[in-house]
Amino acid sequence: MWTLGLSMEYDASAALAKDGRLVAAISEERLSRKKGHWGYPWRAASECLRIAGIRREDIDVFSVSLNKFPACYFRKPGWFEEWNERWHRTRRRIKGRPEEVTVTMSHFLREVRSRGLVLSDLFNWVRFRDDGFVKAKVRFVDHHYAHAHSAIHFSGFDEALVMTVDCVGDCCVQDEMEAHTPESIFLQNLVPLSHTTSLWQEGRLRRLCVTDLNGSPGSFYGSVTEALGFISPRHEGKVTGLAAWGKDPSLDAPFRKTFRLSDDRTHFVSDQIWHGSGNISEARKAVIRKSMQGHSRENVSGSAQRILEEAIVGHAQWALRKTGMRALAVSGGVFGNVKLNQRLMELPEVNRLFVFPAMSDAGLAVAAAQIAAESSKLKVSSSRMEHVYLGPEYGSETIEKILKEAELQLGRGVATINVPQNRIVGRHMIKPDGIHAHFLQQTEIPLLFFVRILVIVPVEVQP
Ligand SMILES: [Fe+2]
Repeated sequence: MWTLGLSMEYDASAALAKDGRLVAAISEERLSRKKGHWGYPWRAASECLRIAGIRREDIDVFSVSLNKFPACYFRKPGWFEEWNERWHRTRRRIKGRPEEVTVTMSHFLREVRSRGLVLSDLFNWVRFRDDGFVKAKVRFVDHHYAHAHSAIHFSGFDEALVMTVDCVGDCCVQDEMEAHTPESIFLQNLVPLSHTTSLWQEGRLRRLCVTDLNGSPGSFYGSVTEALGFISPRHEGKVTGLAAWGKDPSLDAPFRKTFRLSDDRTHFVSDQIWHGSGNISEARKAVIRKSMQGHSRENVSGSAQRILEEAIVGHAQWALRKTGMRALAVSGGVFGNVKLNQRLMELPEVNRLFVFPAMSDAGLAVAAAQIAAESSKLKVSSSRMEHVYLGPEYGSETIEKILKEAELQLGRGVATINVPQNRIVGRHMIKPDGIHAHFLQQTEIPLLFFVRILVIVPVEVQP
């Protein structure tokens, strides 16, 4: 059985599994050259099929992690919206722009229900089949279960505490481990969660604690990132880096008003409460901006990092003691924070820590492909991840051709590129003492912990 898994959030990605075994996975950004690409990852999906040597006609399950779904496969609930969508779709086709637009399923479900309609009646099967998915079933996968699944599946642990922490993702209030059909997802009340803690034993996952949008750790850290003038989600790593120089704790107390561990240590809370309208992130950012006046970037970052670690490490310690688990498996964008992971690793309660390498929403594609294959069993198997090179492969000939076009020399071995002296890079003349890049021949699924290394040692730069 071939299952195509897709995620359409930040770091939109596709993954392909055969009978639950991962065959290919790649992020859209690697093909579109747009960092953190959002939208329907059609290029990545096509690339996965090419790697496996199959066609869309061979796909048995088209599995998508919530929150998003390709807009082109749903008719709009009203005739005017449908007409408008068709007009825009035609324009995009004429301009040669692909169908990247998505719908947010929780909003779409609410709209469909409010009009007294049924979701499955709006699914555009004709368009779906015409696009080549001639026999594929459609499935929807819970956002945080997908994060948890990826953490367990590749950890190789027999049993573990599983934590998923991000900004927010739509989750099912029940049957979260099922790959839902258009009929069953319509009956679900989707809730936005930013954290789950689960116990994984004997192949079964039991959700113990959750945090809603109000106490979102990812939203807190992202709000600080933006308040510092960076882009979120993308530049959170800069805050982590700056935090090392931030020693003044005077911002810790005001930041705790926007994010902290609950008194019973089961979840995260904030003084800012979302009432179903308005933007909780903006409310949080306003408090952060006001309190950080007159403080250096380093001290703002230092406090943000301390508050994040204090809450998440505090919760992990409590949950590990409560369950008696010694192994911890984690996934979700917040675990891209290497300093936080170090603190978790240093906990006396933790014997082993596994961080799923594609911990951002890119990893959801991998889980979506596997959950769709496994959900009938409701049991999750675990085996160690061998490697992450699941994308397209570039052979020596391809590398040589690209280097020749760029007028670069091929150095010792196929993987080392030597840049000639005095080469103009951008608007600068760089006179490097040594500059070289190592190119691994197969693309990895997106990682925060990069395995490619580019070493540049410019000794003189002339404008
Ligand atoms: Fe997520």
